[in-house]
Parts: sequence; C-alpha cells; structure tokens
Amino acid sequence: MHNPDGTNDQCVITELIGAISTYLATHQETISGVGDVLAQISSATISGNFHETNSATPSAHTDILKKAIENIDDQHLEAIRRCLMSSMDELIWRQDEDEFYPADSDPGDSYRASNLHTLLIGPSNAKYYRPDFTLGFFLLGPFTLYRDHFHLAPELYVNLSPRCGWRFHGGEWSDYGAGSLIWNDSNEVHATRVYNDPFISIFAWASDINSPCKVFNCDDWERVEKELVVK
Ligand SMILES: [Fe+2]
Repeated sequence: MHNPDGTNDQCVITELIGAISTYLATHQETISGVGDVLAQISSATISGNFHETNSATPSAHTDILKKAIENIDDQHLEAIRRCLMSSMDELIWRQDEDEFYPADSDPGDSYRASNLHTLLIGPSNAKYYRPDFTLGFFLLGPFTLYRDHFHLAPELYVNLSPRCGWRFHGGEWSDYGAGSLIWNDSNEVHATRVYNDPFISIFAWASDINSPCKVFNCDDWERVEKELVVK
C-alpha cells in the first residue's frame, strides 16, 4: 500500500489490512484468486477524502456486530480480531439498501433487515483507494438466508464466525468453520445461511465492482428460512 507523500502511515486500519494480508498469504497456493486480491491490496493508495467523522453504525445492528466480533475465537484469526476491535471507531458501517440489487429482485427479508458492511479499500467510503476493487467486512444477523445470487465480480470470503452454511449452484448445503475461505468465480451462483449466532466475514470483490448482483431463483427458500428459525 502506498502513501502519496511517502510517509509511513501506521493507523489502525493499515494494521488491520496488514493482518488480513498476512492471513491471506497463507492460502495463496490453495485458493485461486487470493493472489489477485493480494496484488490489489498492495496497489491501494491512501484516500484523501476519507471522512472519519461519518462513522456511525446503524443502532439496530450495534449489538449484533459486537456479538459477531466477540465470537471470533480462532487463534489464527486473533490478529485480525484485535485489529478490527482497534479500528471500530474509524470504520464506516453501511447497510445495503438495494444499491447492489435491481429493484425487482428479492435477496430475502432477513438479508435486507440485518446486512451491514464496511470498506477498508474501495473507490469511496474507505481509508484506502482502488478504483475497481473492494475489501471489507460483512455482517448478517442470526437466522438469515442470504438467498442464491450471482454477480460479475469475482468474490473472496474469509469466514470469521465459528459456523456458517454455504451452497453453490443451488446444490447441497455445507457448513464452513472459522478461517475458511470461499472463492466465487465470476457469475458463480452462491447462497449463505446463518444459524443462531451472527455471521461476520472478510470479503473482497476483485474486479467489476459496479456490476449488479442478480438473484438466482430457487424453490426452497421459504422452507430453508423456516428451518433456520426452528433449528
Ligand atoms: Fe456474492
């Protein structure tokens, strides 16, 4: 990462991105796309228009976010958790209010009600700038089905929570543990389900970040949503 004036910026967000890069580097050989994400991170420049004063978290999500971070207990994620805690006052957390989805699509009520994200690197609202890349954190509340969807942007997730469910191409569900990586190729269909604890992850969109998300209709959404609540 670069500073235009050549100074060595040691702010908490810089340290947080460093902790993420260190973790990702250990998976570079096994997950395709991680190398591209690391290259984008290293090319980011400090943003001149990042306003630290615009950092209020929507109040309804504060407790969920706190609980999700408290639940990060894998020792390999400790540096990321610690740096995230230190950065909380400087991060801008935002809810997706249909900015990623066309108006006539439905990613699910629970997604709409509980999603939250913050950017560390991106074209705007982030400490570091890249024109066509985002790196940040993503939160979903308990009992959420984030319905099957796809997008042109290739996507990396690092699951930080102890347990979450994923399925691909509308197939069978599988559970993933803390520290697991998910790579979704461009336009690959994927869905996430969240059990009785909130879900928090690192995410990155490696390119084509302005292309919209599209919902991939599956006929079992209502059943999956009901099962989450009673499990
Ligand atoms: Fe996605």
